[in-house]
Amino acid sequence: MKIVITQKLPFDIEKYLQGFVLDYNKTDNELSKDEIIKKIQDADGIITMLSDTIDKEVIDAATKLKVIANYAVGYNNIDFNYAKKRGIVVCNTPDVLTETTAELAVALLLSVTRRIVEGHKFVENKKFKGWKPELLLGMDLYKKTVGIYGFGKIGQTIGRILKGFDVNLIYNTRNKNYQAELLTGAKYVTFDSLITESDIIIIAAPLNETTKYRFTISEFKMMKPSAILINIGRGPIVKEDDLYLALKEGVISGAGLDVFEHEPKIFEGLFELNNIVMLPHIGSASTETRKAMAKLCCDSVLDVLINKKKPFNSIN
Ligand code: DGY
Repeated sequence: MKIVITQKLPFDIEKYLQGFVLDYNKTDNELSKDEIIKKIQDADGIITMLSDTIDKEVIDAATKLKVIANYAVGYNNIDFNYAKKRGIVVCNTPDVLTETTAELAVALLLSVTRRIVEGHKFVENKKFKGWKPELLLGMDLYKKTVGIYGFGKIGQTIGRILKGFDVNLIYNTRNKNYQAELLTGAKYVTFDSLITESDIIIIAAPLNETTKYRFTISEFKMMKPSAILINIGRGPIVKEDDLYLALKEGVISGAGLDVFEHEPKIFEGLFELNNIVMLPHIGSASTETRKAMAKLCCDSVLDVLINKKKPFNSIN
């Protein structure tokens, strides 16, 4: 049986999947759509990256594919409904990356509120000439209202961590979650209340038809002028050119982005701004977690192809 792996993973995949024919791209260069189409034709399984688009055209090229294991918790890059119609199981990597991604969200948030990157550049550029009462003043997290948009496992974990900062936590998601409220002390509010009441808004939602462009200039105008927006979900939840305008015109005061609307392209204007911290989509990027994600993808493939059972992490 043949398994395609579209990019190099931090895991001894050749040992773990011995016995299979591996078509392994052992580089960190993305495969083109045409390359994936060619490779998938006679594949039984494929391990994909979130940057690979697995649409109807790609799925139709596969003749014997049984499983797609996506190396990410988000799966908006895969037409999972069409895969289901074709009898292909689609899996993601839940749970193993929850804490890591939540930690990154908090790190990004503190980088913006306490101007960490600006501070580093300041020192690096040899501008530190002594302690000053007004040097790089930021904003406290303590007692602020933090609104989390998307209250799945990652959103809840961000809430649990932020509890330690004594913030007032509110959230908005598809359905009110009583258990999560007990765990985090967060209160469910409407979307409009979330954006008008929050000092900090953290997007931890998946990308789908409901969440796409949920944050545009109209929403930014409803936020506090002092508000900070953090996005660790998916780029297209925020209209990037609108965010640029909002940050430039002082409609809101700052942003931290780990994800972008058209990755790896970034709206040019954002590079001019000082009130933004941008990261190259590294939410789940710790050594332990990226290894665990790779093992989970392999286990998903083994479950479908060898153990003939539906993996717990199948999403279709
Ligand atoms: C995911 O797994 O969907 C995250 O975006 C990775 O950082």
